[in-house]
Amino acid sequence: MTGRSFDVVVIGGGAVGLAVGWRCRTRGLAVAVVDPAPGAGATGAAAGMLAPVTEVHYGEDHLLELCLESARMYPGFVEELETASGRSTGYRRSGTLLVARDADDNAALGELYAFQQELGLDVRRLRGRECLELEPGLAPSVRGGIFVAGDHQIDNRALHAALVAACERSGVEVMRRRAVGVVVEGGACRGVALDRDDTLGAEVTVLAAGCWSGSLHGLPQELVPPVRPVKGQLLHLRTPPGIPPLAERNVRGLEVYVVPRADGRVVVGATVEEKGFDTTVTAGAVLDLLRGAFELLPGVTELELTETVAGLRPGSPDNAPLLGPSGIEGLLIATGHYRNGILLTPITAEGIAEAIVARKVPAVLEPFDPVRFTARAVGHD
Ligand code: GLY
Repeated sequence: MTGRSFDVVVIGGGAVGLAVGWRCRTRGLAVAVVDPAPGAGATGAAAGMLAPVTEVHYGEDHLLELCLESARMYPGFVEELETASGRSTGYRRSGTLLVARDADDNAALGELYAFQQELGLDVRRLRGRECLELEPGLAPSVRGGIFVAGDHQIDNRALHAALVAACERSGVEVMRRRAVGVVVEGGACRGVALDRDDTLGAEVTVLAAGCWSGSLHGLPQELVPPVRPVKGQLLHLRTPPGIPPLAERNVRGLEVYVVPRADGRVVVGATVEEKGFDTTVTAGAVLDLLRGAFELLPGVTELELTETVAGLRPGSPDNAPLLGPSGIEGLLIATGHYRNGILLTPITAEGIAEAIVARKVPAVLEPFDPVRFTARAVGHD
């Protein structure tokens, strides 16, 4: 290894990679995070919903537990991060309202509510009138809803800026460089290969490069993390002076979600598209998102459209993240967070830092062993 050496080098400067770096640094390790454009991936394109209950899916019990635990960690994580960085993260606890536009939607919400109750989740079923009492900007035709007080939001871009600041203030080196591969010698990962033929030595390397985590050189084919890009398009809007807030709470329909920030900005998301690494913003998606938001909150037409964005979520074969040892000594994986990257940032960071320091994967991460796919592929189970 010719370049500098660290205890930990993290590949990927999104929320997950930076948070892993920061938590490793607060445990006394020398850390570098490598990313040519930190925050330009899924983190910057997210909406920042922290919504384990409203996004619950059938057959994802382990993932729900992980998401709920990370949501519980959020207040403490944010408090420590805001102190360490001197920046606000826009963490907002106003809850999430799922609404039905019509009788069909309401029947679907009835089934979802029954499932949420079966899981013991904290949910409240509302009539249309009660939804309107909570959010007067809703379409008067709204048929019913589910209110989830515990599903919050954070300003994902403010979170990222705070993580960069906390890392840099605490001594993490945030290197604006491209990692092209991992250096594997004698069956162990010894560090990271950078562009321009540089290398960084590392006792432990953490691969947290989102949907690009499968594209680095050096990993044996059977251990390459099976992540793929899942495109999401979103709209950013702003409430002009004199116009009342569109909503106080996150508002979700069955097709779109509307995330109102405290300062009048609003994010509307999101498409879910299997289009490879394409990040084109399409007119059709803008139309669908605006129409979906309008059906829930007609006042959206008064807002200024400030940005359209397309990002790439790191999808995995079972929609759950890959967290822990990669199958090669000295290399850990923290990717595949799919729709839950911002939500799962605190638990990923704490869990991976703990796995590095204690040399044992915490129990909460065990169901997300990265080799659950690759071991099968090479016939080890
Ligand atoms: N968690 C919201 C999304 O991925 O669109």
